[in-house]
Amino acid sequence: MIDFTLNGEAVSLDVPPEMPLLWALRESAGLTGTKFSCGIGNCGACTVHLDGAAVRSCSVPVANVAGRAVITIEGLADGEALHPLQQAWIDHQVPQCGYCQPGMLMAISALLERRPDVTDEQVTESITNICRCGTYERIRSAVQSVVQKTDEDLDEENGNV
Ligand code: FES
Ligand code: FES
Repeated sequence: MIDFTLNGEAVSLDVPPEMPLLWALRESAGLTGTKFSCGIGNCGACTVHLDGAAVRSCSVPVANVAGRAVITIEGLADGEALHPLQQAWIDHQVPQCGYCQPGMLMAISALLERRPDVTDEQVTESITNICRCGTYERIRSAVQSVVQKTDEDLDEENGNV
């Protein structure tokens, strides 16, 4: 049995320890919001949070999460209140087919936790998730609508520098 916290609830999954976390989430825990695509850690479709950091769950053996906290796309909202990025995704009509978007949201929400004032350039550098539909421009617009502006940013926007 592998015991860990999943979206705030204690869970105990009867799965082989070497099983990828992605399989355990989808097949054993029944949370299918996290997507399988490349299966080799390249595309980011399977991104979840492990102790607050973004990880690619196809490449993490489930044994590695024992005693730790996993958040999936199903746990990103705070009850009925969407995460600000989820609302921004709706406002900016980001998804096309939508397949990559749970992973995108998990990767970018982890980045925002570390860098609440993240810039466009930092998003481009840090987020290596692949979107075959090419929604990158709308992603950048949506992210910038929720970043916390520094006083310097606001001065620059207001022409005070
Ligand atoms: S499915 Fe995990 S990185 Fe592509
Ligand atoms: S929205 Fe289709 S792959 Fe990203």
